[in-house]
Amino acid sequence: MKELVFATNNKHKLEEVRAILKNRFKVLGLSDISCNEEIAETADTFEGNALLKAEYVYKKYGFPCFADDSGLEVAALNGAPGVKSARYAGETKNSLDNIQKLLQELQGVQNRSACFRTVIALMMDDQVHYFDGKICGTITEKPRGSGGFGYDSVFVPEAYLSTFAQLRPEEKNKISHRAIAINKLICHLNKNSE
Ligand code: IMP
Repeated sequence: MKELVFATNNKHKLEEVRAILKNRFKVLGLSDISCNEEIAETADTFEGNALLKAEYVYKKYGFPCFADDSGLEVAALNGAPGVKSARYAGETKNSLDNIQKLLQELQGVQNRSACFRTVIALMMDDQVHYFDGKICGTITEKPRGSGGFGYDSVFVPEAYLSTFAQLRPEEKNKISHRAIAINKLICHLNKNSE
């Protein structure tokens, strides 16, 4: 079976993709190929960062590889925190600090529109393909719910009343930006590996 690297150390993301592609690809994580170095995410777009990671593995280790990059874009903040979502309030990447900073920036602001975006870059046969996913909604005044991670407790997806942190994980995973991008990647791989 053809091997494909998902350039992530996130076990949850890896298992999710592994389960879906199990009959077509053997999906390896970074630790499976002994890639222990931190791959710098220095680009200023999701596309750029996803490509940096996928290209690094493709060139150094010789495996076809895909990588993802995601974040929250808030309209009233001109798209911030965007690519800086993980470290919005500092290098400690603390979610509670990030949420606190976001709510402070939006204090008194009427326009609470925001979108989560994911971009996946796939490097295979010397070509790069991109797959994107987006879900729009609004930012609450206060955090609600205890599930999920990152900004989940302050994001209400369009047509819902609950925050991502109040939804069951299965429900979030059906509609999320990441699910949309991953489904596009899987469609592409299924079509092109017959
Ligand atoms: P990553 O590129 O998927 O690691 O995401 C970067 C950062 O964006 C995370 O550390 C979170 O702060 C934020 N983020 C991305 N996806 C989500 C999500 O589904 N819920 C909440 N926060 C997210």
